[in-house]
Amino acid sequence: MSIKVRPAAPKDREGILAISRRIWEGEDYVPFVLDQWLAEGGLIVAELSGEVAGFAKTTELAPGELWLEGLRVHPEHQGKGIAKTLARAQLDLALAQRPQVVRLATVEANEASLHIARELGFREVARFFYLEADVEKPARAPTPQRPSSEETWKFLSSSQALQEGRGLIGFGWRFYTLTPGLLAELGDKGALFSVGTPPKGFLILVPDPYTPADIATLAFLDGEDDALEDLLKFAHVWASEQGERIIAAMVAAPWIFKFLIQHGFQFVPELGAVLVLEYRPRMSETPQVADSGRE
Ligand SMILES: CC(C)(COP(=O)(O)OP(=O)(O)OC[C@H]1O[C@@H](n2cnc3c(N)ncnc32)[C@H](O)[C@@H]1OP(=O)(O)O)[C@@H](O)C(=O)NCCC(=O)NCCS
Repeated sequence: MSIKVRPAAPKDREGILAISRRIWEGEDYVPFVLDQWLAEGGLIVAELSGEVAGFAKTTELAPGELWLEGLRVHPEHQGKGIAKTLARAQLDLALAQRPQVVRLATVEANEASLHIARELGFREVARFFYLEADVEKPARAPTPQRPSSEETWKFLSSSQALQEGRGLIGFGWRFYTLTPGLLAELGDKGALFSVGTPPKGFLILVPDPYTPADIATLAFLDGEDDALEDLLKFAHVWASEQGERIIAAMVAAPWIFKFLIQHGFQFVPELGAVLVLEYRPRMSETPQVADSGRE
């Protein structure tokens, strides 16, 4: 049986959704983002006997920083090498864009996925834990400040919590390198909060990228104990005012994990840790620009 990989087209929409509905008992996020993925490109499908049997998406998070996501194979066609073929094609297409780094995330329990990534040369760089809590509106919550992105960068540059996550921040299941540019974008969106003068704690809070009406994403939290308490109370107020049901967090620092567990967050032990893996291309793997200036 030959597996054919090609770019996805709008006609593949139903085939892709049919696969996604069979994954994780229908809890897959792909249906929420599929139209955007089809519009922006980077989505490939694997065909088996003319039918869509799997798909995968590559997204540029920032110049030179590529993210591999959405690798899915129809349950009836798993174990036939389709994911390996898709992942290889995804990495080759990514390398053709001459990235500095290519990353992906998967849970510790997903052994097939980890096996495929490691075989391609990806190496684990960070470990996070996915936690979530029901939104509750506290009786009283302090109003935090809205720090500038420069002020936030200054704090985060020396934040132990950021170092625990190797400088990465999780928004949903995507992990971005935290840069001054990304912080400026988050500042423009009103996602940066701090408490205290001078600031004793910082919070990055955004609507979840996949289900923004339902989930708030606590992308970063660090600071002194009192500041953490105040910022978390505020996060509940903010989420409840947005009409969201759940606050989700990707946490790398053990003390923030402990703090959130002590404050009503839950961890899914069956999934284990969320691993971020990366591939750093060697010079010889990226096409070299011809030097036309010399004989
Ligand atoms: C994970 C998934 C994409 C794999 O698709 P697939 O087409 O069955 O994978 P392939 O047949 O191409 O390859 C699977 C590889 O993993 C290996 N594998 C499978 N289960 C394994 C396990 N428990 N431990 C170690 N390796 C395992 C297989 O042996 C094979 O490697 P090999 O050819 O070197 O022997 C598919 O199961 C899926 O869609 N799962 C649900 C969605 C998902 O988890 N996506 C990934 C999110 S990061």
